[in-house]
Parts: sequence; C-alpha cells; structure tokens
Amino acid sequence: MARRFVLNTGAEIPSVGYGTWQSKPDVVGNSVYAAVKAGYRHIDCARAYRNEKEIGLALQKLFEEGVVKREDLFITPTGIYCDHHAPEDVPESLDKSLNDLQLEYLDLYLIHWPFRLKKGTDWSSPDNFLPPDIPATWGAMEKLYDSGKARAIGVSNFSTKKLGDLLAVARVRPAVNQVECHPVWQQTKLHSFCQSTGIHLSAYSPLGSPGTAWMKSNVLNEPVVTSIAEKLGKSPAQVALRWNIQMGHSVLPKSLNEGRIKQNLDVYDWSIPDDLLAKFSEIKQERNKFRGPFFIFLGSAGQRRLHG
Ligand code: A2P
Repeated sequence: MARRFVLNTGAEIPSVGYGTWQSKPDVVGNSVYAAVKAGYRHIDCARAYRNEKEIGLALQKLFEEGVVKREDLFITPTGIYCDHHAPEDVPESLDKSLNDLQLEYLDLYLIHWPFRLKKGTDWSSPDNFLPPDIPATWGAMEKLYDSGKARAIGVSNFSTKKLGDLLAVARVRPAVNQVECHPVWQQTKLHSFCQSTGIHLSAYSPLGSPGTAWMKSNVLNEPVVTSIAEKLGKSPAQVALRWNIQMGHSVLPKSLNEGRIKQNLDVYDWSIPDDLLAKFSEIKQERNKFRGPFFIFLGSAGQRRLHG
C-alpha cells in the first residue's frame, strides 16, 4: 500500500526515500549503494550536503552493474541553496548537480530555504542576508521545468504563508514541499494546506534525527509511538515512518546501518489501524529549534535586520 504517491505533474514519487543529510562524503557512496540494492528507488540529496559527487559515483556503479536503470530511480536534489536564489544562478546550480550526480535530468528540484544569502556566503553573519525574491527565483525554476532538466519543481522549509504567497504568482505549481515532519512535529496546518492545494508533503527527519544537537524531539522514545510499536510488533522507527505514509507524506529516513536501512523500507505490508492512528493526536507537539537560519545563528537582532 502507498508505495508511491502521485505528484501534481502526474509523476510518481516513491513513498520511502533514502535521505543523505549529514552523510559524510567518505560513507555516503556505500550507503546509497546499499540502499538501492535493498530496494530504495528514491534518493534525496542536496548541494549543501557536499556529497553529490560521491552519490553520482555510487549511481554510476549501480547502473553499470545493472542493479537499476536511471528511469527506475527518483532523484531529488534540494538544489537551490540560499546563496543561489538570483535567477541567473539557478541554472548554474542545477547544472552543477547534474554534473556531480552524472545525470541528464532530475526527477524533482527544490528551493532549499525561503531565505537568501549573498552568493558564496553562509549563515554565519547577518551581513550575508539579502531580502528573498521568491517570485524571481521561482520564475527561474519554472524555466528549468520547461527545459525538462527538472521533471518536477518544488520547495523546502516553506510555511503555509510562504506557500500561499508562491501559489499566488506561480505559473507552474510547486509539486512538493519538503519539511521536517514526524509524530512529534506533525505539521497539521501545513498538511491540510498542502492537501487542499495539491502539493505533496515530503517529510525530512521523519525519525526526529536522533542524536543531532538542534533536534530536540525524541520521536523514537515517545510513549504513544513506543506503545503502538509494541502492540504491532514493529520498531518505533517503523511506526513513525508508517504514520507519515498513512498521512499521505513520503518519508526520507537516513541510516548508515544496513539492518536499519532495510528495516526502514519494511513499512508496506502492514498498517496502523484507525483506533491506534487516532492516538497520534494525543502527542504533545514540540517544534524544533531548527526552523530557519536566523533562529539558530542570528537571534532577535538578525530577525529585526531581516524583517525590519
Ligand atoms: P544510523 O545511521 O546509525 O541508523 P532522520 O532520518 O530522522 O534524520 O534520523 C536519522 C538518524 O536515525 C540516524 O542517526 C540513524 O542512525 C537513526 N536511525 C535510522 N533508522 C533507524 C531505526 N530504524 N531505528 C533507530 N534509529 C534509526
């Protein structure tokens, strides 16, 4: 059930993707190779993760060995980083991803954040921020879609308000909004907005990214999740993933461990029954610290600078 979801382009996105956030270049190739061999057909990556070259090498190996063909895979680089929002920088960014991944087209291409930085800079200083011009950036994304190099285009980390603003000007509707989403941060309002506007919600950090400094949610220890896991004879991670899928969201779990890579794909032949699914509404929602660069790095002075 729900092995794939249909996007508003008509293309199908596999409901479980393999996430590569925080996968270091020296390990990402082997883990992507293992994931595809285990049955993953959707790979999520990003220029900002600085590991696309290694992913490209792993993909080539998989193609050469005949494990999969290009058309079997769904590749999503969250490509337009904050310092490449200028319309003239958008095609350059896509071409770099295509080059590093050794591909001729991408299945989905995303704007990583609705924030903008001066080219070549990072979030370390408030002086690096520029006011975003999402309509202009999106116009350049639409041209990539027209060219066929990006078969679907979308956004990441967009709130309901920012998505609404984009929909008001978009010629090509975004196919996907990729955001943090799991039982402890369920994105209820965004979920409804995406459903009513035909935008697919894709969940990053679907396990709450345990062990990272900025993610404080303990999804895998959450009592509702663990008790349902026990009842169903599944792991808390599988229950968390299955919840997202039953909400209609694709999930992008990351693991470097072969057993857990396989376990995270074993979410199709069973489901959470309705009475247990209802229990997820009892989970206290905790929004993470990681909700925009200025919250983490810049504090209120940066916010005033950005919005004032
Ligand atoms: P590991 O690589 O050792 O498996 P997220 O996808 O939410 O960002 O979470 C990724 C983190 O969750 C990684 O640290 C990963 O560790 C861990 N993880 C992935 N799958 C599982 C699982 N099935 N059970 C427990 N932890 C998992």
